[in-house]
Amino acid sequence: MDQDTPEEVLAEFKERRLGAWGLLQVTAGTGLAVYAMWAGVLMPGFRRVPLKLQVPYLPASRTQVRNVMALLKGRSGGIADLGSGDGRIVLEAYRKGFSPAVGYELNPWLVRLAHFHAWRAGHYGKVSYLQKDLWKVSLADCRNVTVFLAPSVLPLLQKKLLAELPEDAIVVAGRFPFPDWTPCKIEGEGVDRAWAYHIHAQRQADGPRELTEAGHVS
Ligand SMILES: C[S@@+](CC[C@H](N)C(=O)[O-])C[C@H]1O[C@@H](n2cnc3c(N)ncnc32)[C@H](O)[C@@H]1O
Repeated sequence: MDQDTPEEVLAEFKERRLGAWGLLQVTAGTGLAVYAMWAGVLMPGFRRVPLKLQVPYLPASRTQVRNVMALLKGRSGGIADLGSGDGRIVLEAYRKGFSPAVGYELNPWLVRLAHFHAWRAGHYGKVSYLQKDLWKVSLADCRNVTVFLAPSVLPLLQKKLLAELPEDAIVVAGRFPFPDWTPCKIEGEGVDRAWAYHIHAQRQADGPRELTEAGHVS
């Protein structure tokens, strides 16, 4: 009798079971699982944020965090990380003496994770992770700001930062630089690189500005 090898049996099984219909089901199932992961875990809380402003979660590498902190050396006071993810930048900034250290993050899972990391590090209650849309918070009191966001949103963020930050503020961008600004210092290489910007210098380069009634720069 002509006996099939196990490989042949498996190939035949796959061929029979996974016809065009099967393939379609597997593809649809995978797509649905990826979408569920995207909508339920990575992007919840983003329903009211326009699609072009939605930035997915990607944690900063250890080297990136180190580069960001190196650029903040000599600075003091409060710090805000816009889109704080699992809270690693805020936590490290607090360890380096920045206080209040605040992270704004829309994804509630990441806010919880950040609280957990703070608790594990023994700093629970000393750092703040707020589930807020970074586009809606006032940055008028932030002297130190860190961001690691997609290049597509940086032109709009430049405008918000220029309009709201105090004159002596510094902004440190990780991985992606601001498109129209000139950094005062750069640290690191490749994907871990970070750029520091003095708001005062960007405003000067941007031309004369007027104060609004609220005392902000227009
Ligand atoms: C590339 S991750 C960076 C996370 C963290 N800052 C770090 O360096 O590890 C960008 C984060 O910004 C958050 N985010 C995007 N848009 C936001 C918004 N409008 N308001 C608050 N958080 C936002 C995302 O959920 C994501 O966690």
